[in-house]
Amino acid sequence: MTHNEKNSPVRVGIVGLGTVGQGFLRLLLTNQDLYRQRLGFPLQLGGVCERNHSILQSLALPSDCLVFSSWEDMVKDPRITLVVELIGGIEPARSLILAAMKSGKSVVTANKALLAQHGEEIFGAAASQGVDLGFEAAVGGGIPILRTLRESLAGDRILKLAGIINGTANYILTRMSREGLEFETVLAEAQRLGYAEADPTFDIDGVDSAHKVAILAMMAFGSPIRLEEIPVEGIRHIKPIDLEFGREFGYVLKLLGIAVDHGDSIDIRVHPSFLPENSLLAEVDGVFNAIELSGQFLGSLLLYGRGAGGDPTATAVMGDVMECARGIQHASRGQVPALGFHVADRVRKSLRPLSAIYSEYYLRFMAQDQPGTLSYLSGVLGERGISIESVIQKGRQSGGSVPVVVTTHRATESQIRNALSVIDASDHVTEKTVVIRIEDVSMEGPLS
Ligand code: HSE
Repeated sequence: MTHNEKNSPVRVGIVGLGTVGQGFLRLLLTNQDLYRQRLGFPLQLGGVCERNHSILQSLALPSDCLVFSSWEDMVKDPRITLVVELIGGIEPARSLILAAMKSGKSVVTANKALLAQHGEEIFGAAASQGVDLGFEAAVGGGIPILRTLRESLAGDRILKLAGIINGTANYILTRMSREGLEFETVLAEAQRLGYAEADPTFDIDGVDSAHKVAILAMMAFGSPIRLEEIPVEGIRHIKPIDLEFGREFGYVLKLLGIAVDHGDSIDIRVHPSFLPENSLLAEVDGVFNAIELSGQFLGSLLLYGRGAGGDPTATAVMGDVMECARGIQHASRGQVPALGFHVADRVRKSLRPLSAIYSEYYLRFMAQDQPGTLSYLSGVLGERGISIESVIQKGRQSGGSVPVVVTTHRATESQIRNALSVIDASDHVTEKTVVIRIEDVSMEGPLS
């Protein structure tokens, strides 16, 4: 295990100098005095490892900064005291982190996909090696949600949380809603402006939000979570017409990650949700993120801020690096478990299937504009115990089909799917019905 002489510098090694890596580098080189004052010892740039030579050449690295051509060399080099992994993806990030821990080094990472998929292995390795693992930057960019869960709220039982945790999806939904634009138009614009990744699949299909909500739930509820069991739905299928109808009902659409602890089981999911327009999360627009949660004694809490971007995310990485550096300097590593729960003392709770989830629903039927259609639709819903809250029907359209929008009172997903399997197979509708859940994310209310 790496030990440090009293007040000698902690030397940071960075693997991966992309957007977040460069932001972190700037922060480290700019705020040296601040870190010295806050820590009581120097935090130094020990070395970097980046395969892209043009990136390396574009950076003004200090002359004493080591440049490694392989991460293997960096993690075992005794001149590097702690390792910051910012390459993303599964491999070689996983091997790198495990190797660094095996060398007794604490690790900081922003790698949500890796922790969501291989968290058990990595959290287990941190615990058994007695090193620290910081991953604040993996969820919510610059928003300090994970330390809040792990330390500030450690004394309370977290009951539920809901978050807008993907900036790209939120930017797309915000512009579609404000300007009545189609999904594809805004996505292309987001890519042109550099907000969305060249391959934005994870952002728009909800996968990135699933990675993040899995990490949030692990930390909030102390249960391992199997990523593949989380129901995930993205925003590709969302049409401006539904955002417009939603507005008429007083709703705003957001892609949410939701997690509720029911005691013996957990409800965790990612999907677009209509929220009452006066709720706090409904007002989170553009690339911003927010996470709202409820603690048994605390009541509700909202954290809001920049969920992506090199500089905000770099501050989260730096907070972790400083915490790890203190652990190294004061020989107190591994005091706070990475997840805020001792790995071996956690209890695995089962995930509730989507079919058992209760919600209110927005249903848009493209209905034949003829006598009896409305009574047919309400009949099928009523026979399955689904109570209608309100209905809007718009004027006649070409082709003889008109949008009929129904909002329902609380029903289970299986009641709704059962009704729609009948309706969508009938001659009364011309298209597959659009289904959007309406969430009561009020954190003061009962568990739903
Ligand atoms: N791609 C993510 C987002 C940022 O759009 O929110 C990093 O987590």
